[in-house]
Amino acid sequence: MLLTQDEKKQAVAKAALDYVESGMVVGVGTGSTANYFVDALAGIKHRIDGAVASSVATANRLKERGIAVLDIHAVDDIGVYVDGADEATRHLHLIKGGGGALTREKIVAAVSRQFICVIDDSKLVDVLGQFPLPIEVIPMARSYVARELVKLGGNPFWREGFVTDNGNMILDVHHLNILNPCELETQLNQITGVVTNGLFAHRPADVLLMGTENGVEKLTV
Ligand code: A5P
Repeated sequence: MLLTQDEKKQAVAKAALDYVESGMVVGVGTGSTANYFVDALAGIKHRIDGAVASSVATANRLKERGIAVLDIHAVDDIGVYVDGADEATRHLHLIKGGGGALTREKIVAAVSRQFICVIDDSKLVDVLGQFPLPIEVIPMARSYVARELVKLGGNPFWREGFVTDNGNMILDVHHLNILNPCELETQLNQITGVVTNGLFAHRPADVLLMGTENGVEKLTV
């Protein structure tokens, strides 16, 4: 019988526990796959020092399962960060931010020693960009940033009614040709009013765990 997408997500979330060592502080991402990881982490919560959450939603889920949520300023080391992605390549470059938590996700990933990305195999692509690229913007800059994105060949849509945990807005950019993710990540960050973009290329995943019909596949570069 074929596995469902959720079963694949559950399998990779459980496999990510292998990267959690005793006494570690664990960074935890946002989204349905990260939620499965929180559920799995609850089973070994007595072995870890606590978790740093990449969103209010994840912090709430961690607390509900009795896992200590730590202030990122109070920890000097996050041993591992586990999070999903909206798209990933075999170079471990990612598009993230479908859930709108991209800025905090990028911060926790930057602080963490190792980033384990957990996906089901529908997320693996040759070239990033089928999934619209989320960009967090300062509310006042929304229209200006949108015009600049059009100049770059993108087709930005305002995620109306959505406010990030940081009080900002999201533009979802369609039709970007992301052949050079590192270059585009830098270029987008230069637009005044952009807080973060959802490309994880300068800080890609270290390990990609992918749920497939044949089990969990591990990709590294
Ligand atoms: C959240 O902002 C995103 O970066 C998520 O990591 C991404 O959307 C993956 O979500 P799922 O695990 O729900 O597919």
